[in-house]
This record gives sequence, structure tokens and C-alpha cells, in this order.
Amino acid sequence: MSVSNSETAIISAIKNRWSGRSFSEQAIAKNDLLTIIEAGTWAFSAMNEQPWQVIAAHKGTETYDKILSTLMPGNTPWAQHAAAFILTITRTTLSKDDTTLNGSAEHDLGAFNATMSIQASAMGIITHPMGGFDRAKAKEIFNLTDTQKPMAVIALGYLDSAEKLPEPYKTRELSPRVRKPINEIIIGHE
Ligand SMILES: Cc1cc2nc3c(=O)[nH]c(=O)nc-3n(C[C@H](O)[C@H](O)[C@H](O)COP(=O)(O)O)c2cc1C
Repeated sequence: MSVSNSETAIISAIKNRWSGRSFSEQAIAKNDLLTIIEAGTWAFSAMNEQPWQVIAAHKGTETYDKILSTLMPGNTPWAQHAAAFILTITRTTLSKDDTTLNGSAEHDLGAFNATMSIQASAMGIITHPMGGFDRAKAKEIFNLTDTQKPMAVIALGYLDSAEKLPEPYKTRELSPRVRKPINEIIIGHE
């Protein structure tokens, strides 16, 4: 499988998705954020459990500031300008009894998050997922139960110039995205 093959065959919403850091001041319309979240719900999930939950917040709201307060210091300098945040949470147990662990819960939340990101990309909206946040604090602030596991905060917004970012973020923003070659990924193919 050659690189040029995949470059032409991959849909543009996937190819154009990237985790940018420079957000413009343009707000995301409430309906657009809802569309992105709803797109995520069309992801696959084991036994169709759909273990995902979100807390979404637009800039200028109390919930936005609460999510921002959970971010690690390395993420705050750029993420504080995001137009919106989505805190994504997975339910760790199966709905049938709320006790049996769902071994696919984190996998399925990842699928949900990826699907949201591709929808956002198609809408010209940048998504930047972050694992760098204080999960315990997020659980406390939002009164989450032991079976609600916060996994990621996604920063969303419209792209602005890299020039306005402080270092080291500006250099990161301008660095080429790299991927492992496909022959390192495919360890079996007949
Ligand atoms: C679960 C997860 C956690 C991440 N955590 C952070 C983070 O805390 N800070 C950050 O700047 N980027 C974070 N990222 C973004 C990755 O660094 C980024 O997806 C990766 O470098 C590939 O770049 P791309 O998304 O632009 O293709 C995270 C991504 C994922 C999926």
C-alpha cells in the first residue's frame, strides 16, 4: 500500500483533522456544538452500550471556567482561548446492572471522540483532545459517580494564526504532523 494511494483515498474530513492550538475569537454556534456531539453518538460501541457522556460548555460560561480550572498548566496557555470545551466521560459499567465492568468503555469513548472530531473537521472546526487535566478535580467539580470516568477534555474553536501563540506552542503548531509508516502498523496482512 503506497502513501500516495492513501493520500488520495482518505476522506478530507479525516485528512484535515488536526489538534490545533491557535483559536480565533469566533464563537461556535450552540447548534453546531450539538451537531458535533450528536455525530459522536453515531460511533460504534460494544453491545451498543453507548457509554459516553459529555459536559459541554461555551466560552464565557461558568461551566467553561470550571473545565478550564482542571487543565494541566501545559495546556492552559493555549486552551484558555478555545471557543468551547467538551469534557468526555465514559460509564465504566454495563447498563444491565451497573456493576459488571464494561471492558470496552474506554475504547468506545475514544470512538465517540474521534467521530466528533471528524464531524467538527468537516465543519471547519478544530478539536484538540487533552488527557492533561485533573480527573479527580473534574469528578469532584461535576459530582461524578465512581462509574463515570472522565477521559478527555476537548478544546474546540476556529483556527487562528500560529504567530499569536507563545513558545513552545508556536513551534509545535508549525511542526509537520508525523505518522508511523503503514508497514509498522500492519503486522499481518494476507
Ligand atoms: C487521549 C489524548 C490525550 C491528549 N492529551 C493532550 C494534552 O494533554 N495536551 C496536548 O497538547 N495534546 C494532547 N493530545 C493531542 C495529541 O498530542 C495529538 O492528537 C497528537 O500529537 C497527534 O496530532 P494530531 O491530532 O494533530 O494529528 C491528546 C490526544 C489524545 C487522543
